[in-house]
Formats: sequence, C-alpha cells, structure tokens
Amino acid sequence: MLEIKELKSPPSLELFSELVELLQDVVGGGASVGWTQVPNTKDARNYWTEVLEAVGRGQRLLFVATDNHVCAGAIQVAFAPRQNARHRGEVQKLMVHSQYRRRGTGRALLGAVEKAALARGLTLLVLDVRSGDDVERLLKRCGYTCAGSIPGFVQSASGAFDPTSIYYRRLGAAATG
Ligand SMILES: CC(C)(COP(=O)(O)OP(=O)(O)OC[C@H]1O[C@@H](n2cnc3c(N)ncnc32)[C@H](O)[C@@H]1OP(=O)(O)O)[C@@H](O)C(=O)NCCC(=O)NCCS
Repeated sequence: MLEIKELKSPPSLELFSELVELLQDVVGGGASVGWTQVPNTKDARNYWTEVLEAVGRGQRLLFVATDNHVCAGAIQVAFAPRQNARHRGEVQKLMVHSQYRRRGTGRALLGAVEKAALARGLTLLVLDVRSGDDVERLLKRCGYTCAGSIPGFVQSASGAFDPTSIYYRRLGAAATG
C-alpha cells in the first residue's frame, strides 16, 4: 500500500539506506536531478544528511513515499529565504524509484507537498525540469503551467547541454484570483 509521509526527524537506518539507493537508481536511469554520474554511496549519504539538516533547520520539507514499507520515492520543497519571497517554494528532487513508476506515486508526492505548502501559507510553487523528461507530462497532468524554457541549462551524462522548462502552480486563493 502506498503511503506518503513527511520526514521531520532523522529516519531509520533502513529508510536512510533506501533514500541513498533511490537517488542512485534515479540518477542511474538518466534523470536530471543534479548529478551527471551516479553518486557513490558516501556522496549520496552526505547529500541526504545535508537535506535532513536543512529539514531540521526548517528550510525545506521532505516527503517520502513508501510502498509496503519500502521507499518508493521522495520529494522536497525548499523555502525562499528572502522577505519578498516567503509566499513561494521550490519543488525539488521529485524522484520515484524505477521499480515503482506509473502507479501514481509521483502524483501523490506532488499532491502531498502542495497540501503542506498551502497549509504553511505558500501560494506559489515553482520548479525547473529538463525539457522533454517524463516529469513534464506529470506536471501538465497535475495543473502546472510551463512559463518557458532556457536552452543549455543543464548538462546530461552524455555531456550535452539540455534545455530546461520552468513550471509553476498557484495554490489556494491565488489559483483562482
Ligand atoms: C517523473 C516521475 C517522478 C513520475 O513518477 P511516477 O510515479 O511514475 O508518476 P505517476 O505514476 O504519478 O504518473 C502520473 C501521470 O503522469 C504522467 N506520466 C508520468 N510518467 C510518465 C511517462 N513515463 N510517460 C508518459 N506519461 C507519464 C501520466 O499522465 C501519469 O498518469 P497515468 O499513469 O494515469 O497515465 C518519475 O518518472 C521519475 O522519478 N523520473 C525521474 C526523476 C525526475 O526526472 N524527476 C524530475 C526532476 S524534479
């Protein structure tokens, strides 16, 4: 059974290892989430440790999807630190393990962060994704608008510089105002 939960405190060692494996799986599959090569376990552990520290400082939200208690995906929202941007958050690192795709996990993770963002008073979510990736279909399906694209924004494992598309979704009253 799919469950989405917010991680507010350090996870179990088991879940932490699964997050490491999730990152390695997703990068290994060619996703554009920050790495051009699969991070080794030490680097992946360091990455998640930094994420959890930022969660502890209240700078971001982290949600994890579990399928029958096994980590199937994760998503983050980073809060903008400046006074004039407190109403918006940046969705980052939406990742679903390759063995758990097309079962609604990505959609459920996105829905969970939207709900949490709205509850915290956020009225705008933004994110950038490599143009043409599967995630674009998910975003359009979930009501996100593409504001445009920037050529040569990200480098892929092949060495090519690919365009990135910028998406946003207004939340709550801002969505209808
Ligand atoms: C993008 C990603 C998160 C989607 O996760 P997912 O759990 O498979 O997505 P869902 O099952 O919730 O899909 C919801 C809808 O999105 C669309 N969609 C998602 N993946 C798709 C694909 N590969 N092809 C076509 N449509 C797709 C479909 O409309 C789908 O609904 P349907 O299955 O009823 O047709 C997953 O493919 C992934 O982790 N990709 C690599 C990481 C990445 O690129 N992240 C984005 C960086 S922020």
